[in-house]
This record gives sequence, C-alpha cells and structure tokens, in this order.
Amino acid sequence: MIQDEALLALGASSLIGGALCALPERPPLICVSRNPPTSPQSRARWIRVDLTNPEWGAGFADLRLRKALALAPIWTVAPVIDQLADLGVERLVSFSSTSRFTKAASPDPAEREVADRLARSETRLIESCERRGVAWTLLRPTLIYLEGRDQNVTRLAGLIRRFGALPLAGDGSGLRQPVHAEDLATVALTALDTPAAAGRAYDLPGGETLTYRAMVERIFEGLGKRPRILALPPELWRLGFSFARPFLPGASAQMGARMEADLTFDSKAAEADLNWRARPFRPRFPA
Ligand SMILES: NC(=O)c1ccc[n+]([C@@H]2O[C@H](COP(=O)([O-])OP(=O)(O)OC[C@H]3O[C@@H](n4cnc5c(N)ncnc54)[C@H](OP(=O)(O)O)[C@@H]3O)[C@@H](O)[C@H]2O)c1
Repeated sequence: MIQDEALLALGASSLIGGALCALPERPPLICVSRNPPTSPQSRARWIRVDLTNPEWGAGFADLRLRKALALAPIWTVAPVIDQLADLGVERLVSFSSTSRFTKAASPDPAEREVADRLARSETRLIESCERRGVAWTLLRPTLIYLEGRDQNVTRLAGLIRRFGALPLAGDGSGLRQPVHAEDLATVALTALDTPAAAGRAYDLPGGETLTYRAMVERIFEGLGKRPRILALPPELWRLGFSFARPFLPGASAQMGARMEADLTFDSKAAEADLNWRARPFRPRFPA
C-alpha cells in the first residue's frame, strides 16, 4: 500500500506528538512508539515499535512513506536513517534540543553526557541523511511544556498545588524561554513543507523571555493563585532538594544551580524561514 500523503511520526506519544495528533489541520499520521495509547485519536494509525530493535522496519513492509517527523530522542532516530530511506522517506524533520549547548559545560557529568550524545547524534543523523539523499531539518526547542503532561512546568504546578509555595535557589534571575508543544507541532509541519529549511538546524525558543522567577509567577497565575515564592540561599535549596529528590524523578541539583543562569536562544532564523511565532508564556491549569 502506498501512503504518500501520510506522515510517519516517530515517538508520537511524546508531548509534541500529543499536540500534533490534536491539531485540527494535519496530515493523516502513521504513529510509532513503544507504548501506543490505549484510545488513540482518529485519523492516526499506531504501530508498536522499538527503534532500538534492528528489525523494527519489518512491520512497515506494506507502506511507502515520503515524509517523517522524529519526536523520539534523537539518539534513537540517528541510527535508523537507512531503514527510513528504505521505507521511501525523502524528507525528515527531527527534534534535537538546545540542551546540546546549555548542558555542555555542566559540572554534572551525566548532563555533559546528554549534551555530548545530542551533538554526536545530530552529526550522525546529518551524515546518514546526506549519504542516503534524505533532506533533513533539525529543530532544537528550549524547555517544552504542555499543560497537564510535561515534567517541567506541570511538575512545578503540581508542587505549587501540593505545598502552596515554591522555593527558589537564589533570586531566580536566570532567563528562560518555555515553548508550548503545540507551537512545536505546528512549526514541524511547516518545516516539512519548506524546501528552504532542508539542510538547516533551527533553535526554537518560546515566544517570551522571562526570568525563572517570573516563569514561576506565571505558573501560580495559571493555577489561579497568588504567587508565594521563597528565595532561599542556594546551599539551603540544595539541602532541601537532597531530601525531596526521591519524589522528583528526573530532577537534578543542577536545576537549582541554573536558576540564576540565562538559557536563551535566538529565534530569528526560524522566524524568517519557518514563520515561527511562538506564544507568550501564559500556561493555564484546570482548577
Ligand atoms: N521535554 C523537553 O523539555 C525537551 C526540550 C528540548 C528538546 N526536547 C526533544 O524534543 C523531542 C520531543 O520531546 P518530548 O519531551 O515531547 O518527548 P518525550 O515526551 O520524552 O517522548 C519521547 C517519545 O519517544 C518515544 N520513544 C522513546 N524511545 C523510543 C524507542 N526506542 N522506540 C520508539 N519510540 C521511542 C516515546 O514513546 P514510548 O515510550 O511509548 O516509546 C515518546 O513517544 C525529543 O527529541 C526531545 O529530546 C525535549
């Protein structure tokens, strides 16, 4: 079966994939992940696949797909470019991350390894695409949020709900640019249809640059609460974090160290080529 119009979405159960599936204007999707949802959206076919399994392409023998969108971690995507090309993929838009830059000099070796892995995977993906004649675009978002689902903003909202207040390490003066998953889903579709974006990488910051403290204040507002923020000396914050850590999977003490560091990126190239117009940071959470 030839499915020229369908878009192959690798890692479709991601935050961006969830937003993509819900877009009113989108192509039909062939969605791939290890754990497909139990009640998937209409106009999407789901295939259970682990991209690290070398045989994963076998389940697609009846499909020819021209375009692919990679929402899974780039280190699972870079090694499978040959299989994508064998499926007929000629155009690939893949997400990477600005963590490639922000974590490169982290004092935490695990974070430096993430940055290194992202950089190596970008290089591998580009080399493989060029060898196989697949036109590639890389998109590097900053911190992604999708109300109710993400592990960044929504987690902070959960802590605020639970404790009524949020401690910061220092004054939280570091700049942030949180970006909404729906804006990323939309721009990824634009990139797929923009020939000028082939062979290019774009940083995708959110539509507003604000301090970590202002970001937290907006989360309070999104919950309908008056901000209650405790600016703690960083050593005290670290001590508190060491007790809370077992309840915060995926969180690291470096998050505190970074609250006073600027993590900002320029969106001009994406604005010019992809009409990137990200929304300001006004998250809304149900009462
Ligand atoms: N979250 C952020 O703040 C952030 C910031 C910058 C960049 N990014 C990048 O943006 C992209 C999307 O991020 P996200 O946070 O929306 O993603 P996410 O929620 O972490 O989801 C990743 C997706 O990849 C799938 N996946 C992981 N390993 C797989 C494998 N071996 N085989 C098949 N599917 C696999 C997961 O589904 P299953 O578990 O069902 O397989 C899931 O659908 C990723 O490339 C991420 O690195 C994220």
